[in-house]
Amino acid sequence: MEIGTPLLEGSKKLMLLGSGELGKEIAIEAQRMGIEVVAVDRYDMAPAMHVAHRKYVIDMMDPSALKSIVKRENPDGIITEIEAINTDALIDLEDSGYKIIPNAQAVKICMNRIELRRLAAEKLKVPTTTYAFAESAEEVRKACRDIGFPCLIKPEMSSSGHGHVLINKEDEIEDAYKESISHARGKSKRVIVEEYVKIDTELTILTYRYNTGNGIVTKTFPPVEHQRPSYYYVESWQPATVQDDVVEKAKSYAIKVVEELGGVGIFGVEIIKSGNRVLFSEVSPRPHDTGMVTMASQDISEFQVHVRSALGLPTPEVRLLTPAASHVILAEREEWNPKYLNLEKALEIPGVQVRLFGKPYSYEKRRMGVVLANGSTVEEAKEKARKAAALILVE
Ligand SMILES: Nc1ncnc2c1ncn2[C@@H]1O[C@H](COP(=O)(O)OP(=O)(O)O)[C@@H](O)[C@H]1O
Ligand SMILES: [Mg+2]
Repeated sequence: MEIGTPLLEGSKKLMLLGSGELGKEIAIEAQRMGIEVVAVDRYDMAPAMHVAHRKYVIDMMDPSALKSIVKRENPDGIITEIEAINTDALIDLEDSGYKIIPNAQAVKICMNRIELRRLAAEKLKVPTTTYAFAESAEEVRKACRDIGFPCLIKPEMSSSGHGHVLINKEDEIEDAYKESISHARGKSKRVIVEEYVKIDTELTILTYRYNTGNGIVTKTFPPVEHQRPSYYYVESWQPATVQDDVVEKAKSYAIKVVEELGGVGIFGVEIIKSGNRVLFSEVSPRPHDTGMVTMASQDISEFQVHVRSALGLPTPEVRLLTPAASHVILAEREEWNPKYLNLEKALEIPGVQVRLFGKPYSYEKRRMGVVLANGSTVEEAKEKARKAAALILVE
């Protein structure tokens, strides 16, 4: 394989559809490899745009906008970094010869909770929570009766916990359904109704595929463990503290689902452990937010692996080097041009690193940065990451 020189004839070019914090790290890894990077998002000054050669601000739900910049740039690979992208346009682009990472169909399935459940639970028979699909309050009622209370409803399409509503009893159903679909992406009225399980812990099995030149192989990272006080990401760590048999099960489900989705690149397979049940939950066809910890824990991060796979390059193995943790830095309120205070205090803690994403504006609970910390144990790493994150203020 040949890599040319960025900005000159023969350069290898990657286009990022979505330029958030994960995209920024992908862009940095691509830059390190001498790749020309084009960052796209719906707003200007998005994180990856700060480290790309060029940027475009477009509505990625608009098929003609998407196609016209792809045709203008003619990238060697298109990396989808967010879910809110017109997937039919991606399929058309793939049909006309563009390389979508991991592949257009996988992106379409993973953004849709119903399609993904059909694939994982019904086709592949991978264990999941008990669930039903519904498209009216009446159908939710029927599903709740079958599944039992409490149950959790989620819109067919949404991300970061948007539209997740817990239903404890019969008379909450009507409002819960309305509330849930009001947070849906797009016009769909469909929801998934899931049994609400008591979570002991959650794992992300980062699973990647690359072309060896002699076929595609599927491999996994050591598991990342995380805990959420709510439906969004707060902290994650490696190594995971679960038993080997849980890891083995989790990895086998991850490999099964990812092999079915196909293509190349990294996937974040979310696994829930509840009592002695190990359940597949969902999968991102891209690096995962909980996997930011791999920047501190491993010799090769999830971002580097994704770039290599996208370029057709191998990663025969990744190694865990040290216990590490990551912890988010959240904003408290809406603000243009936010300022960050107390970095000097946070960085006084040995083994701590800070990544600030450079988002041009904040709102309540928006993720603005992340602390990475390593330690001699997971507990020590977590403690340092929490402490440092608490010191940093966003104003
Ligand atoms: N059936 C469930 N029972 C209990 N908690 C759940 C259930 N489904 C999801 N969760 C919790 O909510 C989080 C977000 O749910 P998920 O389905 O991953 O949605 P999102 O696409 O918003 O990440 C999970 O990581 C888990 O902590
Ligand atoms: Mg999730």
